[in-house]
Amino acid sequence: MSELDKVTLNAGDKAVALPVLKPTLGNDCVDISKLTKETGLFTYDPGFGATASCKSAITYIDGDQGVLLYRGYPIDQLAEKSSFTEVSYLLMNGELPSAAELAKFEDEVTHHTMMHESLKAFLQGFRHDAHPMAMLAASVASMSAFYHDTLDLQDPEQRRLAAIRLIAKMPTLAAAAYRYSIGHPIRYPRNSLGYTERFLHMMFEVPSEELELSPVIAKAMDLLFILHADHEQNASTSTVRLVGSTGANPYASVAAGITALWGPAHGGANEAVLKQLAEIGDAKNVAKAVERAKDKNDPFRLMGFGHRVYKNFDPRAKIIREMTHKVLGELGVNDPLLDVAMKLEEFALKDDYFVERKLYPNVDFYSGIIYKALKIPTEMFTVLFAIGRTPGWVSHWLEQQVDPDARIGRPRQIYTGSPKRDYAKA
Ligand code: SDX
Repeated sequence: MSELDKVTLNAGDKAVALPVLKPTLGNDCVDISKLTKETGLFTYDPGFGATASCKSAITYIDGDQGVLLYRGYPIDQLAEKSSFTEVSYLLMNGELPSAAELAKFEDEVTHHTMMHESLKAFLQGFRHDAHPMAMLAASVASMSAFYHDTLDLQDPEQRRLAAIRLIAKMPTLAAAAYRYSIGHPIRYPRNSLGYTERFLHMMFEVPSEELELSPVIAKAMDLLFILHADHEQNASTSTVRLVGSTGANPYASVAAGITALWGPAHGGANEAVLKQLAEIGDAKNVAKAVERAKDKNDPFRLMGFGHRVYKNFDPRAKIIREMTHKVLGELGVNDPLLDVAMKLEEFALKDDYFVERKLYPNVDFYSGIIYKALKIPTEMFTVLFAIGRTPGWVSHWLEQQVDPDARIGRPRQIYTGSPKRDYAKA
């Protein structure tokens, strides 16, 4: 944090004093909201790498130090001591719940897990080989057609209930999309199970035999959900906020976030990492892959590497890397792709191209290997990311609804098209 309380921008014969806003943690921000009125100038920042879109109290990231805090709590402490439902409560409400508050929250979420029966017919409209992200995004957007009692955004209780419904139903819709895609019967959520166990039951239980839920798998999945729960103003969360800024309902806003997450540069990277590791196939091919990733004429990039904010190890990647060895060991899984991943990481972290650009493994680099060990199909990896990120999305949407500074998101541009010209046909 600097000592600055304002900066002066000299624009021709004008000197404009711009206030400097102070965060609790992190970079000071120059408030440019009056810049255009005073100077006629816009600012240009493609990808918003240096632009704060809002004030938020939910998550803090220090990219240089590799720090991630949810409501001030370090991610490694939450990973070790908390649960996904407790972290969801924390993100939504700002404080850790008491035992009674957590029990009440979990009970409310549990009793909102079922989806409307018509949604099953909705899924029948898809081909069996539809990507589950397509089915999830569509199903979530359609929730506004079923839950008219949570569409009055002026009512704080309706806003809260919509958030609860999204957290509660995301696993049900995700599992339903998967089960439809493999031609298995869609399972109803079991209220006797905890949040993550309930999801695994809906994913894998078949009528022909009892499902033995592995506590190792359930614990690993719950931890992965915690690690994905929020991440400040990433592309999908910014999308939820942008859509939410128009007054669109929370289901439409979160559905937009799901579609943004799908891209391989964002949440789709976990699926892309596993495909890439499989393409590399063997540790002896790693050097060639790293050379390809450095070749500007080759669009090939090392998926799971690099980050807009982290210029150090992604703290989540560190936790997942340790977890990968533990979970695969406990499950007795020996996946050659793990050897390829470790060799790739070792090679890249020593290569000048990656070192100079501060490209480290991110959250997506190892998660796919664990998901594979947990018998999650590759096309479901980004769907799992969406389940984990839902508490973050709804918390940012709720925060935005009561933000006095919130306005409709409407960026400007640098126009590079044709000057004005009259209509004439040759
Ligand atoms: C997530 O924002 C979040 O918080 C996201 C996320 C969350 O929790 O919400 O953390 C989740 O999306 C993690 C990121 C998952 N994506 C991937 O793993 C895809 C591979 N990574 C890249 O596509 C890239 O690193 C991004 C998209 C993650 C970041 O892109 P930036 O910030 O725009 O970086 P850049 O393109 O400006 O790259 C800087 C340089 C460039 O080289 P030069 O032009 O300087 O020569 O680094 C190079 C890039 O070519 N580079 C890579 C690379 N990532 C960046 N080169 C090879 N392989 C890579 N993976």
